[in-house]
Amino acid sequence: MSARKIIIDTDPGQDDAVAILLALGSPDEIEVLGITAVAGNVPLPLTERNARIVCELAGRRDIPVFAGCEAPLKRKLVTAEHVHGKTGLDGPQLPDPTMPLQDTHAVDFIIETLRREAPGTVTLCPIGPLTNIATAFERAPDIVERVEEIVLMGGAYFEVGNITPAAEFNIYVDPEAAEIVFKSGVRLTVMPLDVTHKALTTAPHVAGFRAMGTEVGRMVAEWTDFFERFDKEKYGSAGAPLHDPCVIAYLIAPGMFTGRHVNVEIETTSELTLGMTVADWWGVTDRPRNAMFMGGIDADAYFALITERLARL
Ligand code: BDR
Ligand code: CA
Repeated sequence: MSARKIIIDTDPGQDDAVAILLALGSPDEIEVLGITAVAGNVPLPLTERNARIVCELAGRRDIPVFAGCEAPLKRKLVTAEHVHGKTGLDGPQLPDPTMPLQDTHAVDFIIETLRREAPGTVTLCPIGPLTNIATAFERAPDIVERVEEIVLMGGAYFEVGNITPAAEFNIYVDPEAAEIVFKSGVRLTVMPLDVTHKALTTAPHVAGFRAMGTEVGRMVAEWTDFFERFDKEKYGSAGAPLHDPCVIAYLIAPGMFTGRHVNVEIETTSELTLGMTVADWWGVTDRPRNAMFMGGIDADAYFALITERLARL
């Protein structure tokens, strides 16, 4: 079977960085056509820069990196330096990237790629706010039916919220964009907090990263050390959720995850619950099912996969 073609749409973020590394360490299963940066965890100049740093760390200066939208569709950008640090990749000392940023805007790259490639052969993997994807869908509605699948990290049902009591960060930052994506009709697989809060970086997992003895292993261990402090304190847990690599792990080993095909609507008006992913987990409405909403993960298999693939880089 040939490798699945994907575009990673991202706001790195330490966990985004691990997701990118997992994809680049898995060339048999995944072909990364490009990485599109969006404003999210930190502003756009930092997210596009961080994406290039991660590609260089993986020895993949050939991966084209594009800068996209610098603000949500209708709102002021909310960032998450309190989790990821000032640069978004706080933790280890990082070199400045030397590979160039592409001239093309990320949204144009998404549109051009979907028009160029055969219909149904490109999967979009958003692991930040959905601004770039929604903008592409609005600007070029013809591309929507050409998308093979969207596999995204965002939302929550049982875990409810992390940036507000009711909302997960990626959806909260740009709820109008999320609404466009969730209503698009594209086959949609969602990795919410319900999954990622079961994928905790406990001590043996971080030791596994460190024991790789490579530059990549050291960086990932140091990133983990950094972002764990916030979540461990907040949740009183033995580690922090490693959110975004769930999207890539799903492409490689979907059997690791369990979930339900349900209706998911995005709250865009209530001040109190803005950005909430209202998932009809119990099937109490007749609203059409639009998303495979995951809820379970084999965390040991997940960390074993990440460790094995990152060791290849
Ligand atoms: C999501 O928000 C970001 O802080 C992480 O990178 C992840 O994509 C988790 O809510
Ligand atoms: Ca992210």
